[in-house]
Amino acid sequence: MTTTADTLSLPSDLETATVHPVIKGHAAWVALATTPHGVTFAREEGKLAVEEFQDVIQRSDLNRPANDVPRLTMMLAHANLVVTARDDTQHLIGVARSLTDFAYCCYLSDLCVDEAWQGRGIGRGLVAETKNIVGPNSMVLLLSAPKPMGYYPRIGMDKVQNGFIIRREG
Ligand SMILES: CC(C)(COP(=O)(O)OP(=O)(O)OC[C@H]1O[C@@H](n2cnc3c(N)ncnc32)[C@H](O)[C@@H]1OP(=O)(O)O)[C@@H](O)C(=O)NCCC(=O)NCCS
Repeated sequence: MTTTADTLSLPSDLETATVHPVIKGHAAWVALATTPHGVTFAREEGKLAVEEFQDVIQRSDLNRPANDVPRLTMMLAHANLVVTARDDTQHLIGVARSLTDFAYCCYLSDLCVDEAWQGRGIGRGLVAETKNIVGPNSMVLLLSAPKPMGYYPRIGMDKVQNGFIIRREG
């Protein structure tokens, strides 16, 4: 950034960046928990078949251990909030898999939408439906992959500066 007495110039990426408003308040998020025509959301924790989970991970290109079925099985078995999106033939087209106490915190670990269905508001709806279910007193926290870093502010999520992590191996 360079400044002179009466001008302020920004780096070109900041000049062109669009700032999206943070969506504040539970009710505002609940209002976003909508689906496109023909798509339904449902809670499927303890019910979602690992083969379907594996398939939608592959169809969305989400970076998860898609070929490690025992690990995917554990991921589903211990998730206590799994919101699914299905089309009008009941085909699985999106998932938001979270761990939550429904009272204070919710970690949204896996969000993905079938590539053929991306860009229709399903991802935003799955995040909003997760917030709807965990309630007004719970945060929804997630870690972004590099590519969708611009996505979460676009849908109204607030970026945190105070996070810390102990990284997994593999
Ligand atoms: C990221 C993902 C879940 C988004 O789901 P989606 O259903 O395609 O997104 P939505 O339709 O809800 O998008 C909402 C808005 O964000 C925009 N958007 C979508 N992807 C974006 C991106 N990567 N960066 C910035 N904006 C994006 C959409 O154009 C849309 O804009 P609009 O409000 O003007 O219509 C989906 O693209 C996906 O599954 N990607 C692969 C797996 C992945 O990366 N998951 C996240 C891991 S952290």
